[in-house]
Amino acid sequence: MASSFDLGLGLEGTHIVVTGGLGLIGRVVSHAFLSAGCNVSILDTADSQTIDAPELQSPTLVAYKTNITDPSQIHQAFSDAEARFGPVQTCVALASLDLSVLPQSESLADMDPEAWKRVFDVNVHGTFVTCQRWLQGIRKAATNPAVAPELRNVSLIIMGSEAGRFGVRTMAAYAAGKSAVQEGLMRSLAQDAPRLFARARVNAVAPGAVDTARFKEECERYGEGFQWRECEAT
Ligand SMILES: NC(=O)c1ccc[n+]([C@@H]2O[C@H](COP(=O)([O-])OP(=O)(O)OC[C@H]3O[C@@H](n4cnc5c(N)ncnc54)[C@H](O)[C@@H]3O)[C@@H](O)[C@H]2O)c1
Repeated sequence: MASSFDLGLGLEGTHIVVTGGLGLIGRVVSHAFLSAGCNVSILDTADSQTIDAPELQSPTLVAYKTNITDPSQIHQAFSDAEARFGPVQTCVALASLDLSVLPQSESLADMDPEAWKRVFDVNVHGTFVTCQRWLQGIRKAATNPAVAPELRNVSLIIMGSEAGRFGVRTMAAYAAGKSAVQEGLMRSLAQDAPRLFARARVNAVAPGAVDTARFKEECERYGEGFQWRECEAT
């Protein structure tokens, strides 16, 4: 008779960085990894003290106030997180200016070019900075004989959106920025990361409308057709 199967996720003790981990989706992602036994480091511009999330109160979760657009802040936060929980094995690059918090215009003809720059600074440049620092940490760990044999669950997950595939008439910068990270950046890193650590994985997820408290509130505010239109693409 075969010995036993391990049906667990094998995530216990894995050190995970979640950028945007104090947001509506980020909180759920962080809680899920915490429940799976991970050490979770959240990087977010929000102040953890101001977020009412008792499920995130744990000695194995630390939040660092960090702006992902600033490479020095990202570097400092990763370094502090590494000093506490060891090398960052998995990174969920989730922080972004979500469509819901961005100004919309009837047509691209009316769009403020500064809005385009701002979205690209956070959603594209900030995601690149995050991914780069994760990769630098993996390279360092993979070449350290004291750490490399223990390295597992080496994985990068980039948060995209269906908008990156289907477009958004009223906010093209959001759609274009998501295309950039969930396609060009993700596919380039998927070729790059395994050269630094053979079992490294790079993926993106591109959800449609997510059933957050804000989405419920928007459905109420904009009426019955809103939910249908928002979910149309998926
Ligand atoms: N909500 C949806 O329906 C939906 C659908 C598809 C994709 N997404 C994507 O999922 C992710 C999370 O969305 P959400 O709905 O939880 O939004 P949210 O606004 O609740 O969360 C975003 C988080 O990112 C943080 N953040 C913003 N700018 C930052 C910066 N410069 N540095 C560090 N942190 C920063 C915010 O403080 C916030 O905690 C985003 O990438 C969003 O585009 C959301």
